[in-house]
Amino acid sequence: MLEDIQKHINILESLQIRSADDLEKFRIEYVSKNGVVNRLFQEFKSLPPEQKRIIGKYLNDLKQKAEKIWKENKDKFVFSTQENKIVDLTCPPAPLMLGSHHPVSIVRKEIIEIFTRIGYVVSDGPEIEDDWHVFTALNFPLEHPARDMQDTFFITRNPDILLRTHTSSVQIRVMETQKPPIRIIIPGRVYRNETISARSHCFFHQIEGLYIDKKVSFADLKQNLLYFSQELFGKETKIRLRPSYFPFTEPSAEMDVSCMICNGEGCPICKYSGWVEILGCGMVDPNVLENCKINSKIYSGFAFGLGIERITNLKFRIKDIRLFFENDLRFLQQFISVI
Ligand code: DAH
Repeated sequence: MLEDIQKHINILESLQIRSADDLEKFRIEYVSKNGVVNRLFQEFKSLPPEQKRIIGKYLNDLKQKAEKIWKENKDKFVFSTQENKIVDLTCPPAPLMLGSHHPVSIVRKEIIEIFTRIGYVVSDGPEIEDDWHVFTALNFPLEHPARDMQDTFFITRNPDILLRTHTSSVQIRVMETQKPPIRIIIPGRVYRNETISARSHCFFHQIEGLYIDKKVSFADLKQNLLYFSQELFGKETKIRLRPSYFPFTEPSAEMDVSCMICNGEGCPICKYSGWVEILGCGMVDPNVLENCKINSKIYSGFAFGLGIERITNLKFRIKDIRLFFENDLRFLQQFISVI
């Protein structure tokens, strides 16, 4: 037995504890319940007294050496009390999963910021609407094709309750309840009964603008839209207005911006024309003002409406609108670094 004790004393004298694993091995072998020290003390109990006197001294020496090693090292490593597992504090943590803003939200926010800088305020209204706010008050003739079942999701007929097909409905809600001057932008989701493809979807997002005051002119509209286009696409951007038709504006126009991809030289995105269409606009039709009990002899105004997905496609060169609504993380994570 003395030889056994001496052997372990020698081992402990040259033992080096360098890691949590070393310490755990030492703990199990020497200081645990079934370790060397306890085992030798059990054997020691059955020795005759004269041997106990000699061996006891060595055995105590071994015990003290083992305890000293344990005491000196256990604080260097931390124990998790629940699992009694050794944790290495130097180990780097697992990376945190970061979320990202949706590209449509990024562009919506940017557009809102541009308009609020020149005094517009944000308004909103319901997505479930009635015929008056979506069509009739906006001067849509009864037989207009946009009222047709093909374009509109009706919830009930007679009375007609439907999902709004454009954010222009909120123009009416605001003009019915507020007095001019009115200077608002209206971001929101709209619905259309269209076949889903790379270019169209059954729902998408628009931003509507409305400015009503005394003596508002087409020149004001043009200046506001030029400012907006240059803030969004860069100072070099040019705009052009082409005559168009909307029931609620007279005169009406569609606005193109010089192609931000080829700088107007011609590329597949602008179909080699150098221009891309981004919004519809015009002077609010006097009938619409009168429908909202605003005197069209005193007040005039302009309105415009744009599709956020269309502008997002142009800004980030996305070719398929369906990507916005599929929640594919491989797509969404590409926007982590934006904003
Ligand atoms: N509401 C139109 C649409 O959804 C867009 C639009 C065009 C809005 C001209 C306007 C405007 O306010 O003046 O296609």
